[in-house]
Amino acid sequence: MAGWWSIGDAFLMLFGILLAPYLYKFNWIKDLRIEGDSKRILANHLESKKRKLGKLPPVYPNGWFALLESSQLGKGQVKHVAALGQNYAVFRTDNGTVRILDAYCPHLGANMAEGGRVKGDCLECPFHGWQFRGSDGQCDHIPYADKVPHFARTKTWKCCEANEIIFVWHHAEGLEPTWQPQTMNHISSREWRYQGRNEFLINCHIQEVAENGADSAHLSAVHGPALFSKAGHFSSSIARHSWTNVNWAPHKSFLESQSSEGAKSKEQEIKNLRHRAYMTLRHSLVLFEKFELFQLDVNVQQIGPGYVELMMETSVGTMCIFQTVTPMEPLLQKVTHLLYSRPLIGPYARILFLGECLMFERDVAIWNRKKFEKQPLLVKEDKMILAYRRWYSQFYSQHSPSYHSAMKSLQW
Ligand code: FES
Ligand SMILES: [Fe+2]
Repeated sequence: MAGWWSIGDAFLMLFGILLAPYLYKFNWIKDLRIEGDSKRILANHLESKKRKLGKLPPVYPNGWFALLESSQLGKGQVKHVAALGQNYAVFRTDNGTVRILDAYCPHLGANMAEGGRVKGDCLECPFHGWQFRGSDGQCDHIPYADKVPHFARTKTWKCCEANEIIFVWHHAEGLEPTWQPQTMNHISSREWRYQGRNEFLINCHIQEVAENGADSAHLSAVHGPALFSKAGHFSSSIARHSWTNVNWAPHKSFLESQSSEGAKSKEQEIKNLRHRAYMTLRHSLVLFEKFELFQLDVNVQQIGPGYVELMMETSVGTMCIFQTVTPMEPLLQKVTHLLYSRPLIGPYARILFLGECLMFERDVAIWNRKKFEKQPLLVKEDKMILAYRRWYSQFYSQHSPSYHSAMKSLQW
């Protein structure tokens, strides 16, 4: 069916070129995208009060989490981000380094991200002008005092920038990072360019989002019905999405199935990269149960508890989506998808991305209403879900906050 496939791709490319300006104009692709309108969000929020929670795992796993996109923080700017039970003041110094301090000034508690000023490597509090160093949180200057006491300091967080995303390191035991997200060569060389983004706020536990990758059975039920038809109400045999070659594996089993290098170096690599997991799948659109169009091979790397890189191989080239998942509250996840590709295939990539948004909305509708099932009733074909849960449990530790302790700290 190669002929049909390329005709389909050519059609989509043309459609993309013609429609891209229109889509940009109406912000379908480029900007904020939350499930439904504000009334539905409110209704969903009220509905969530009646929802059963289930026995939840801790709500803030250990790892790197996206706080902002690099483009959202210029030199000399400071932004307040509340996530993971913390209030962060994220700022960029004049030489471009990103720093993160506790937003609340230890002097009298002003929020330094609201009206604070970046001065060299320091953030200056807007209330009385104390200046705190971004590197170690030490107070460097008090405009009306002769001496700065050594105990005048505030908390800092480790941060890094990769693939034009600003990440913070969160660890319940205060441990240092043993890994961090890496910038891809195609992005640093600017061979692949930013093509658009979307953003969702989802009422669910963070673990549920990536569990989707190991849950192969939901693919045909949720993502089988053709786009622009209502999931679950579409029985036509005119068009459906097919998902094959589905596999999910933690780094350990992935590596064991690969190279034949020495056992020792393998063991070390397993240890260093155990925060990674891999998923593959192949998509095509089946028309009249006969013709396969828009074939797409997807290779996914889950890197830690809240960051995913999806490489999508199409007939005209590769596009890449970075997915970030950050707990804003115990059961409120901010999910963003950032799209990159070579400029030439940008219009095509944007159309596929719109399809991805619509597919993702189907998952969001389920996540927003489900309960977390600690002991799911599974059949043997669901075994990847258990493997996923075992793998994800590495991101919890003794002091990882439970739902109730995290909620308590949010209440005034
Ligand atoms: S509250 Fe920040 S300097 Fe006084
Ligand atoms: Fe899904």
